[in-house]
Amino acid sequence: MDKGDLSLDGDWCYNDSMEKILLTGGTGYIGSHTAVELIKKGYDVEILDNLFNSKITVLDDIAKITGKKPRFYQVDLLDEKGMEDVFRDGNYDMVIHFAGLKAVGESVEKPLKYYENNISGTINLLKCMKKYGVKKIVFSSSATVYGDQDGVRLTEEMQTGVGITNPYGQTKYMIEQILKDVALADREMQVTILRYFNPVGAHESGFLGENPNDIPNNLMPIIMKVSTGEIEKLMVYGDDYDTPDGTGMRDYIHVVDLAKGHVAAALKMKPGVYIYNLGTGKATSVLEMVKAFELASGEELPYTVTPRRAGDLAKIYANVEKAKNELGWVAELTVADAMRDTMKYLNYYSKKK
Ligand code: WQD
Repeated sequence: MDKGDLSLDGDWCYNDSMEKILLTGGTGYIGSHTAVELIKKGYDVEILDNLFNSKITVLDDIAKITGKKPRFYQVDLLDEKGMEDVFRDGNYDMVIHFAGLKAVGESVEKPLKYYENNISGTINLLKCMKKYGVKKIVFSSSATVYGDQDGVRLTEEMQTGVGITNPYGQTKYMIEQILKDVALADREMQVTILRYFNPVGAHESGFLGENPNDIPNNLMPIIMKVSTGEIEKLMVYGDDYDTPDGTGMRDYIHVVDLAKGHVAAALKMKPGVYIYNLGTGKATSVLEMVKAFELASGEELPYTVTPRRAGDLAKIYANVEKAKNELGWVAELTVADAMRDTMKYLNYYSKKK
């Protein structure tokens, strides 16, 4: 499919007038799905990743879906010379910054690794952007910055930075502060901070999905590994929370909706700092997620209830009015859609091995 063609279903467009965007961490779970949606919208997308927690074959999977294989740079954010080489010739209009370590438990054991990688890496990125005149950045933040506010529908104006129980979450909060200060010092900077809730699911094609290299901490990749037999059974971390079935509740957002939220943000960049929750506004329990997965897979998922995981809250979910009103974005897919698409990915990926 050449530039300028309309896709079969009409909502794809390749045109030269759209901006050039660098996705850091773009071969990762959310980055790769966002690359697909940006390419569909006609953006010129390039990817920079150190492949620590993703696979280069994701580029081929993106090409299978979009017909375009993004230009790729295997560079670490801490490699200042490598970053310079990318930005010198990049001529980027915007950066979407996904790259970062994200294992909550590991961050408690290895805080310096997380602060160096996530904070110093981001500072290197921002220095390159400043040197080469890149004024637009969308940052992948997280609901974890709201700290220990349990059971309340979280809005962007609420307190952040208090009661964050791990260095991973602290790095997200600190980077938000760094971006605010950078935007104060340079009023031409256009900063959008997207606070993700709990991303789940896979692309409807089955070609893209969550496939971390490291040992997963999050519920869905663990459920996936239980279903393939790599993990014997799911440990449900506590059933004594003050929730309808006693298990923890989260705002699970389909990764394609999340990706489309980045497109909505990219289309509406303007000078200043703008912060948006990207969630569904609904909360789903662990046992409801297990049941939804069993419906999609047609098989029982073995699990056992264990004591609570340290630091977990009972219920975390988003108020999503601001993104709807200012970005014109609303999550449209459901947990059932996410489980359906996860099964497609599992079937595709199991055949690839
Ligand atoms: C979800 C629910 C667990 C695993 C973290 C980060 C957040 C974001 C998403 C990156 C909870 C329960 C989990 C398991 C379980 N990450 N659970 N057994 O903790 O809400 O958020 O990941 O941006 O920043 O903090 O996600 O998937 O770990 O847990 O019972 O084996 O599943 O108790 O209720 P969490 P999670």
